[in-house]
Amino acid sequence: TDDALTAIINLDLPGATISRHVYGHFAEHLGRCIYGGFWVGEDSEIPNEGGIRLDVVEALKALSIPNLRWPGGCFADDYHWRDGIGPREDRPRMVNSHWGDVVEDNSFGTHEFMQLCEMLGADPYVNGNVGSGTVQEMSEWVEYLTRGDESPMATLRRANGRDEPWRVPFFGIGNEAWGCGGNMTADSYAALARQYGTYVRNHGDNVVYKIAAGANVDDYRWTETLMKELNCLGCTRQPAGFFQGLSLHYYTHSGAWETKGSATDFDTDDYYATMRNARRIEELVAGHAAVMDCYDPQRRVGLVVDEWGTWFDVEPGTNPGFLYQQNTLRDALVASVHFDVFHAFADRISMANIAQTVNVLQAMVLTDPDTGALVLTPSYHVFAMNVGHHDASTLAVSLKGELPTREVAGGELSLVSASASTTDTSALVSLSNLDAGHARTIVLDLRGRDVTEFSARVLTAPTLQTHNTPQAPDAVAPAAHDGVRAHARGLEVDLPAHSYVTVSLALA
Ligand code: AHR
Repeated sequence: TDDALTAIINLDLPGATISRHVYGHFAEHLGRCIYGGFWVGEDSEIPNEGGIRLDVVEALKALSIPNLRWPGGCFADDYHWRDGIGPREDRPRMVNSHWGDVVEDNSFGTHEFMQLCEMLGADPYVNGNVGSGTVQEMSEWVEYLTRGDESPMATLRRANGRDEPWRVPFFGIGNEAWGCGGNMTADSYAALARQYGTYVRNHGDNVVYKIAAGANVDDYRWTETLMKELNCLGCTRQPAGFFQGLSLHYYTHSGAWETKGSATDFDTDDYYATMRNARRIEELVAGHAAVMDCYDPQRRVGLVVDEWGTWFDVEPGTNPGFLYQQNTLRDALVASVHFDVFHAFADRISMANIAQTVNVLQAMVLTDPDTGALVLTPSYHVFAMNVGHHDASTLAVSLKGELPTREVAGGELSLVSASASTTDTSALVSLSNLDAGHARTIVLDLRGRDVTEFSARVLTAPTLQTHNTPQAPDAVAPAAHDGVRAHARGLEVDLPAHSYVTVSLALA
């Protein structure tokens, strides 16, 4: 009928490119992300190369992860890179005061991180220290990393065993300057960012995409101040201004910051509250993008959502400063709706980094601290199902007909989310049914190109709380989906309750 839930997609009207970098990741010196997660040391019984876990690398390579942000987060503004180079036994120790107040021995430093990126085939996104570091320190780190000739820092790098410079395409000028990165005002940070950013230089042919520390949640004033002060529209020497990206951080909780809720022990109301908070990313991206449009109508500055994802209570019995949480089908749906927004705003969002890759917050993989066993999370599977969106062109999706909604905390939660992209010969459609209890059918009204073949995958589970463990590693795993049929308008797709479905199309 005309009222049928329908997604209209014009396959012949490709929009902006969805940068593969929106599928980026984040690894901080926090809890068991680096230590135990990525890094086990060369003497570990866990198979490793130069101390880096091979199973974690293999799992992430299968996602084609495009970039990895490091060393923080809040840790970045406490980190002094010279502590993490040279013989490991000589490296000074420090206290990781943000995360668990534990002693950091700096055994994972610059060379180890760059080796990890090389093993992953991912671009490094190094986050510099503005909060407690110096301009010289930041400048020399970039020189150490990227300079090829006989400069002082290149010579030091060679003395530490690395001849060739690395390529560092992304560099962050501090982190959360409004909070753990220095408790600054937008104006004071803008002044520092101009100064620090000046000395983050392009050495040789390494061109750095500089990312200014942007707003938290809906702090549009922060974005406005930075766009005004830093974008430098009139500059002739630096056509794109003082920086190329501006970050945004937004975490999804079940309740408020003070009542984040359990990662696994939640009821249906908690679930819907979480999804409502997750879907707020659309309002936030639209809001920050609108502010950016005023100062950068040509959209040369990218919005970099370099921390996003769920933040729940830590698992009982684990260190509260380590932010270790399980990951259920609910987390997968939080991820899928974020990507729908990132795809829709492809003309403004240049990068996004889920927090964090291993053992922290909304992780891709969890490793058992006792046995070392590795588990892929439901969120991992959303990233895997979406690889086809990397660098594809976004396609607008218009939902019409009977759009299911639900009242949540005085607001309306839309229960279906969708996005799509295309290459020359294919298209990928992503469909999330957020309804906890009802399956739905959606018509894909496919216009403009002929579809020659189609196939689909589904990610769902008996309950929203279902999660993967070493004992049940595939409790939530994608499967082939046979609930797709030809329809007069294109295709008809069954969406099980609480499910994520991707439909792949071959185009004539
Ligand atoms: O991802 C955990 C922390 O969240 C980061 O260190 C910080 O930037 C943010 O507040």
